[in-house]
Amino acid sequence: MTDESPSRLTSDDHLGRVLLSEEQLAQRIIEIGEQVTEDYAGRRPLLVCVLRGAYAFCTELAFSIDLPVEIDFIAVSSYGSSTRTSGVVRLVKDLDVDLSGRDVILVEDIVDTGLTLRYLRRSLEARGPASLEVCTLLARESADLEGLGVRYVGFTIPGDFVVGFGLDAAERYRNLRYLAVYEPEDH
Ligand code: PRP
Repeated sequence: MTDESPSRLTSDDHLGRVLLSEEQLAQRIIEIGEQVTEDYAGRRPLLVCVLRGAYAFCTELAFSIDLPVEIDFIAVSSYGSSTRTSGVVRLVKDLDVDLSGRDVILVEDIVDTGLTLRYLRRSLEARGPASLEVCTLLARESADLEGLGVRYVGFTIPGDFVVGFGLDAAERYRNLRYLAVYEPEDH
């Protein structure tokens, strides 16, 4: 059995309580998908998935949108392998698609300090999209969602360090089907 096997993954001592179950996530993503379908009727939105964390959410969201969406990927990093933001956002992989005239939906897994989102907004707005909206699965209660212009929010969560459904702790747990609280040893 390897470290990547599901049983090793879920029996890990660092995994705390389940914050959002697979069913809760699935249900909410369907609702967001229906809302996007209504809001973008007659258009062909471009989903910009922010790697790596948003990959799972973006996949499920795309399945839930009943429109001919396109998907492209951008990768930024401010946390590295640390659980604390470095305060500096680094572009790791840029988009391939030209954004000019496109209806762009930026898809994030979590808005925490908002640093990443502010950086991405500036970068994408400068490319002349017809519209730019933000859709995040999770947002911290402390995040200024209005100030950051976030249109779609799955769940607002407290300050716990969370993993699963795309979110990691030093690259682990992204493949958990649910969202759990992460409890490092020094806690
Ligand atoms: C995480 C997450 C967001 C960002 C949110 O990315 O995916 O992009 O942090 O935090 P902020 O609001 O404080 O900027 P991370 O840098 O951990 O990269 P990852 O998505 O590859 O895990």
